[in-house]
Amino acid sequence: MMVNQSSIQTLLSKEQAILIAHYYVNAEIQQLAQDTGGIVADSLEMARFGAEHPAKTLIVCGVRFMGETAKILSPDKRVLMPTLEATCSLDEGCPSDDFKTWKSHHPDRTVVVYANTSAAIKAQADWVVTSSIALEVVQHLHERGQSILWAPDQHLGRYVQHKTGADMKLWEGECIVHREFQAQSLIDLKARHPEAAILVHPESPLNVIELADVVGSTQHLLSAVQSRSEKIFIVATDQGLFYAMQAAAPDKQLILAPTTGRHATCQACGSCPWMQMNSVEKIEEVFNQPGHEIYLDEALIDRASRPLARMLSFKNNYLNRQL
Ligand code: 13P
Ligand code: SF4
Repeated sequence: MMVNQSSIQTLLSKEQAILIAHYYVNAEIQQLAQDTGGIVADSLEMARFGAEHPAKTLIVCGVRFMGETAKILSPDKRVLMPTLEATCSLDEGCPSDDFKTWKSHHPDRTVVVYANTSAAIKAQADWVVTSSIALEVVQHLHERGQSILWAPDQHLGRYVQHKTGADMKLWEGECIVHREFQAQSLIDLKARHPEAAILVHPESPLNVIELADVVGSTQHLLSAVQSRSEKIFIVATDQGLFYAMQAAAPDKQLILAPTTGRHATCQACGSCPWMQMNSVEKIEEVFNQPGHEIYLDEALIDRASRPLARMLSFKNNYLNRQL
């Protein structure tokens, strides 16, 4: 490893800090997080781990909404990020005022927002969900006769609607990485590898999801590579996840699902530009340079924490009872 891991380890111990990294950040950071007692996880587990860990400082390596979620759930902890400029197209595509207006037109619907949103959007929600728990929460609400106002990812929303049959109105946001996966090119690729299993993150378009053997969050897709018997996997998500997949299942072959083909204009090609803004050099900066800390207004934290806490409690109570 090129960085001075022991100097980062010394700083982490001195500051009572831990690294919480998403699967999409680069391999060097993922390794560092693991080697120093932190975690590499999907967005739901990042939130749970940060809230429950006794560290005084959380260093969140991912995108801005992940740092904000950590701060909302742990307002007394210091939350630092390698860069505060790492955003997300879903978050950017759902401005608070526009959302407020939209919500005012649907006062009877239960508001469910994806975690990939700002604190200001979460503060207006009844529920926050991540990709690993969206289906279960919406199913739960649907069974209780509730209709849903969903934002911001239209593809995940459409998938959840399709699976649950819930009455959902969808905001039209998109992930610039996952929207690029191409169904026809995937069919062609699968024809060349008929023995492969197709794994798809549900931020992908529905016609891509429909080709999947497994649909799920980053954690879910990682588990599938470990547990399934196939030797080849075609994977429709950010290729940052390949590092954890390859470490967990070194004998498996991973192929990135195609973002090219007829009508394709891919700009991101299986790699989130904002996740890639995280670097080990920037982790070293967080302790000695300004501009890395997440600050949120107390009233905003109070409002945004309720739908987030509801999600975590749903995971702990309701889902665990079903197992
Ligand atoms: P997960 O919740 O699966 O980690 O996904 C977060 C994300 O931003 C995917 O693009
Ligand atoms: Fe947002 Fe997509 Fe990047 Fe995930 S991969 S952080 S959804 S832009």
